[in-house]
Amino acid sequence: MNLFEVYKLWNIEPVRGLDTTLWDKEGEVYTDLYGGHAVISVGHCHPHYVKTLSEQIGKLGFYSNAVQNSLQKDLATRLGKACGYDDYSLFLCNSGAEANENALKVASFHTGKAKVLAFRKAFHGRTSGAVAATDNPKIQAPFNATQNIVFVPLNDLEAVDAELARGGFAAVIIEGIQGVAGIYEPTAEFMHGLRALCDRYGCVLILDEIQSGYGRTGKFFAHQHHGVRADIITTAKGMGNGFPIGGVLISPSIKATYGMLGTTFGGNHLACTAALAVLDIIENEHLVDNAAKIGRFFADAFAGDKAIKEYRGKGLMIGMELKDEYVGLRDRLLFERHFFTGAAGAQVIRLLPSLTISQETAESFVNAWKELTK
Ligand SMILES: Cc1ncc(COP(=O)(O)O)c(C=O)c1O
Repeated sequence: MNLFEVYKLWNIEPVRGLDTTLWDKEGEVYTDLYGGHAVISVGHCHPHYVKTLSEQIGKLGFYSNAVQNSLQKDLATRLGKACGYDDYSLFLCNSGAEANENALKVASFHTGKAKVLAFRKAFHGRTSGAVAATDNPKIQAPFNATQNIVFVPLNDLEAVDAELARGGFAAVIIEGIQGVAGIYEPTAEFMHGLRALCDRYGCVLILDEIQSGYGRTGKFFAHQHHGVRADIITTAKGMGNGFPIGGVLISPSIKATYGMLGTTFGGNHLACTAALAVLDIIENEHLVDNAAKIGRFFADAFAGDKAIKEYRGKGLMIGMELKDEYVGLRDRLLFERHFFTGAAGAQVIRLLPSLTISQETAESFVNAWKELTK
């Protein structure tokens, strides 16, 4: 059997990792500033992560959600404290799309309404509801088409108000910072206005923090830079540092009923252990502060850079829009200097490194960039 070819692959096969370093099968060394698409939050193969997961797999890897699992309760308590939403409840699942799918369902159950407001350029995942709320017709099959989703431009409160006023909306879903689009931030004024409009029209405000969460921007969740609170927050990516896990954090004003949601694998023993190890490391190594610190270093180092048309983002969620003559720089960084970075189209280089990234590694990247663009 062949693989179903949905990805364009680089001809590189990493076989080992340690913190922000990767080795491929030829023994070549790479520096990872992409984090496998914002997933690696505490570095590859962190010793604490390896130890706790290895111990857990030797005890019990999985049992269904029909029995008690105190790892889930520990995770809910620890995550609530870490992010400041300790009065919320946690539903565990396996991926970002699944987290958003469940968030949209919860909002619809809660309000009894069907419509959802989403934003232009948004990406929320590839399952039915999540992909319908994603502003990219190319990845929506006819089966996903629905009249229930309405898109408006980011940061346009008047457009939000005009749509919500029509009625029938269960939720507004918004990324903490738009990632796949190329790193676009909602303004503080917009976030406060959005919160007020959701309250006025009785809509659930869903913050998709799947890429922007878990400390990446220098706060636990990106929307916390603006001092607003969401009714539902979705997380995944950095939550398990590569072990598949997603979470839906749900306001106490929304009540659960048996059977409302469900999953076979969500919240399994290994996934919870991975997520608990990630929280241990984030806390013990002050990684949210490190994300803010190294983020400031990058912003200063790239200020006024000759190759960059616009520098966007916060902390370690960075988008650098290249001037036309520098398109192709991402490949040069990879093949000539062995730095993995992310992208949004040909024009934007994205940095989404592990929150453990050192000052030295950050400097080596800046030096490589400056040499290639001089
Ligand atoms: C903001 C956002 N939401 C949802 C998703 C979907 O997550 P997953 O690929 O784990 O389903 C992504 C993935 O890139 C994302 O960036």
